[in-house]
Amino acid sequence: MPVSANKSEAKPILRIAMVGHVDHGKSTLVGRLLNDVGALPAGKVDAVAEMCKRRGMKFEWAFVTDALQAEKDQGITIDASHINFSSDRRDYILIDAPGHREFIKNMISGSSDCDGAVVVIDAEEGVCEQSRRHALLLHLLGVTQIVVAVSKMDIVSYDENIFRQIEKDFTECLERFEMEAIRIIPAAGLEGENVKSTTGKLPWYDGPSLFDALEEIEGAIPLNAGPLRISIQDVYRFDERRVIAGRVDSGEISVGDQVMFSPSNHVGVVNSIESWPINSSKSVAKAGEPVGFTLKEQVFVERGEVVSHNDNMPSETNVFHAKVFWLGKTPLRSGALYTLRHKTSECSVEVEAIESVIDVAEMDEVEFKHVPSDCVGEIILRTDKLLALDSGSRIVIADEYNIVAGGLVSTEGYPDQRDALTRKATNITAVEHAVSRRSRAERNGHAGGVLWMTGLSGSGKSTLSVELERQLFALGYQVVVLDGDNLRHGLNANLGFSPEDRSENIRRAGEVAALFAESGFIVVTAFISPYREDRSRARDAAKENFHEVFVSADLEVCEGRDPKGLYQKARAGEISEFTGVSAPYEIPEKYEFEVDTGALTVSESVDALVRYIKVNFPLRSN
Ligand code: ADX
Repeated sequence: MPVSANKSEAKPILRIAMVGHVDHGKSTLVGRLLNDVGALPAGKVDAVAEMCKRRGMKFEWAFVTDALQAEKDQGITIDASHINFSSDRRDYILIDAPGHREFIKNMISGSSDCDGAVVVIDAEEGVCEQSRRHALLLHLLGVTQIVVAVSKMDIVSYDENIFRQIEKDFTECLERFEMEAIRIIPAAGLEGENVKSTTGKLPWYDGPSLFDALEEIEGAIPLNAGPLRISIQDVYRFDERRVIAGRVDSGEISVGDQVMFSPSNHVGVVNSIESWPINSSKSVAKAGEPVGFTLKEQVFVERGEVVSHNDNMPSETNVFHAKVFWLGKTPLRSGALYTLRHKTSECSVEVEAIESVIDVAEMDEVEFKHVPSDCVGEIILRTDKLLALDSGSRIVIADEYNIVAGGLVSTEGYPDQRDALTRKATNITAVEHAVSRRSRAERNGHAGGVLWMTGLSGSGKSTLSVELERQLFALGYQVVVLDGDNLRHGLNANLGFSPEDRSENIRRAGEVAALFAESGFIVVTAFISPYREDRSRARDAAKENFHEVFVSADLEVCEGRDPKGLYQKARAGEISEFTGVSAPYEIPEKYEFEVDTGALTVSESVDALVRYIKVNFPLRSN
């Protein structure tokens, strides 16, 4: 296929990261590829060969690329890491990825975004730790189009068995990350075998050459089919109009569309689409395009928000899982604070927990309390504000201005908080009560309030609450228990155990508890209430006298008790999303009282709770 080094007419551009260990023959492959596609200036190779001879060195293709870098007056553009060439079909930018930290940082921050990658594996060495690391990195960077070049096939005498073994090993490695190579190609850069064409040394191979495989890579992956996502970069004011500017990450937006802004939850109807920056109106903008649009009615939105359609919105959460490649000099530890960047939004983030660390050498999970440099950690992050996230979207973590990690988000296991934040009813006016909280407290002899018990299933919440209710009632308290299992038979019968259903379960329970407390009762609740955010909303609903009690028996203790046999079922896979086993439990950060039922008996625990109530809700005789 004819190839030219000149970019005369505009062709599609394909950005390919060249990934591989320094000694794996990557430069040789690149040098040979440039030569074979005719992208090198005439006489260049001869000049380098002559220079090698003079100095008594073996000719290397890498010297050619080095020489090109030194002389930028050639017809092709070349810099330290970007090499351009063209085929009939398109222009290529090969981004050399030497694997050093700066490059990884650029890739993580998106400044070296690529459409695909070539992973170079040395035939003699096989799949090594570096190759696995590269596969993992590409996965975390969201690069899905991968061509694997098994280089130096000449050194292993073009042995098919060696190639097939590497093919098998690396395919397995990619499968670990749900990836698949487009092609796995045997090649010899030095000999020029199968780089652009074959010289017949690989009779057992009937696939494409490296160059032909590059031609098979799709351009920028068509994202139009995906749901609409625009990350807002800025809102500009022109006269009375506000133009919302951003980039269409996926899907498409049209005039007349109803759009949702997350996480503000504002809605609007698209009035006009301006092509940016020129003010020529059009009616649709598609994935990959910058866009500016106006709304029929102004709403206050700002940079960092995500635009979607109303029927397919991102999740709103401030806590989520992330799988990150850690570059920080010191290990990543839980409790540490950083800056998180997601699309155009930026906020403060705390590492809530480290769930696992992947040992790249063994491709296995290892027990670690921290994530060492250059390792991949599965962590839980908590941000200081709500974010609009999709599982699989990319984040960057920075320490001051230094990029220390990049990776992928998963919102699995955490509720979309959108509903909990959305007030649908309008035209409502609160009615003032004629009997005050104080009058009720005077008649009852004590204030109303909420004793909110949270803990794992089997931690003893129900047992303690029932006994506590009995004793407090005997002492003269107005007391009532709200229990998860019980409410789920009635008020919450339409809710299951998905993160959103649990969130709604706790929202309702919190509101009911608040009403009882308002009417003078001491409400003792027994809900797992696994999410901190939900407990905090229950606290806000109660307004005053809310006491969070952490029933703190740990998982081992609770599982050992397994009063309803549910842990056993959960471990056997018969119950999904079971707290502590396959669904998260967020340990309270701030709580008023702790009862460790792993250490105390039931009666000791109840005694402690009765004492706590007597102090905080003193009984006055009427
Ligand atoms: S919460 O998570 O929404 O707060 P809640 O306290 O109402 O849960 O209900 C928990 C009780 O439901 C548990 O004590 C257990 O008996 C039962 N249960 C059934 N399925 C699950 C599950 N998947 N995870 C936790 N508890 C479950």
